[in-house]
Amino acid sequence: STLEMEVEQIRKGNFEHFMEKEIHEQPDSLTMTMRGQLIRGGEQKAKGILLGGLKDHLKTMRRSRRILFIGCGTSYHAALAARPVVEELSGIPVTMEIASDLLDRQGPIYREDTAIFVSQSGETADTLQALEYAKSNGALCVGITNTVGSAIARGTHCGIHLNAGCEIGVASTKAYTSQIAVIVMLALLDKDMKELAALLMDEQSLLVFGRGYNYATALECALKVKEVSLMHAEGIVAGEMKHGPLALVDETLPIIVIATRDASLNKQQSVIQQLKARKGRLIVMCTEGDAEFMCPDGTCRFIEVPKVQDCLQPIINIVPLQLLAYHLTVFRGFNVDQPRNLAKCVTTQ
Ligand code: G6P
Repeated sequence: STLEMEVEQIRKGNFEHFMEKEIHEQPDSLTMTMRGQLIRGGEQKAKGILLGGLKDHLKTMRRSRRILFIGCGTSYHAALAARPVVEELSGIPVTMEIASDLLDRQGPIYREDTAIFVSQSGETADTLQALEYAKSNGALCVGITNTVGSAIARGTHCGIHLNAGCEIGVASTKAYTSQIAVIVMLALLDKDMKELAALLMDEQSLLVFGRGYNYATALECALKVKEVSLMHAEGIVAGEMKHGPLALVDETLPIIVIATRDASLNKQQSVIQQLKARKGRLIVMCTEGDAEFMCPDGTCRFIEVPKVQDCLQPIINIVPLQLLAYHLTVFRGFNVDQPRNLAKCVTTQ
């Protein structure tokens, strides 16, 4: 009817077609996806933010022998686009399955598998049938859908809601980018800095060693720890370690060594060796997957971060350290947003 056509035009706003609108919506839809996620737990209830819906199943996912991405059309492509980062960061083999092909082959699926079902609508018959198949084979089934209450959202053990907003154009566009974002976020799941803060909360002091691109990261971490948690901390350029700071090293003083992969890695490895030789209490920030290789004897704690371009690595590395400073402050009972004696803008000399 004319009325329906008018309503449709209003919903399209200034765009001629939904597809065009949805393509242009991507800055917003992606922001929505990455911001407060509407998370469902086992009983389909909103449960918290940021992948909280997976919380109870994360351990199982990390321990699984294989991750399978299953979907059709554009959803399959989104998973395909995000596969490399999932594989790189999880160290778990990832297989891709077009839902119908998996069913045609009755491909093997095991209890040790995590099967991730990607579907914008959450209702695609092939994907849904593959879900039933994977469930009957005992796999952990995770849903990534854009439709709360859809069959796939309901049928999976846990999952993530895309929150990209309703997609009307048949050709999927904004769902594709949100699906990639969500899968990448899944791969980046935060290692718990709160736990580390709990461990360090009663310490007197903390050293942070960095060099090269992450010299500033070491200084900035120490500054954050000092200014909000009121714990003494010192950021040190690692090359200076043997010219003084080494004297402080013993079994009790916590030391963070930033040793993510870049041109400084070899030198930072030798710093770790020297600190270990003096029984230093080490917390090594390393590239995801490097933990064992950085400290095979298991005497270090780790903060693992994803690898990006060397020059951008400081942006990634500082985030967990900011979180550490934050949690330390909360645990120690100090004012996070207005630290003692400090002001946002100092207008006196
Ligand atoms: C249909 C749609 C595609 C979509 C595919 C998978 O073929 O036309 O745009 O990519 O189904 O849909 P889903 O809702 O499962 O992502």
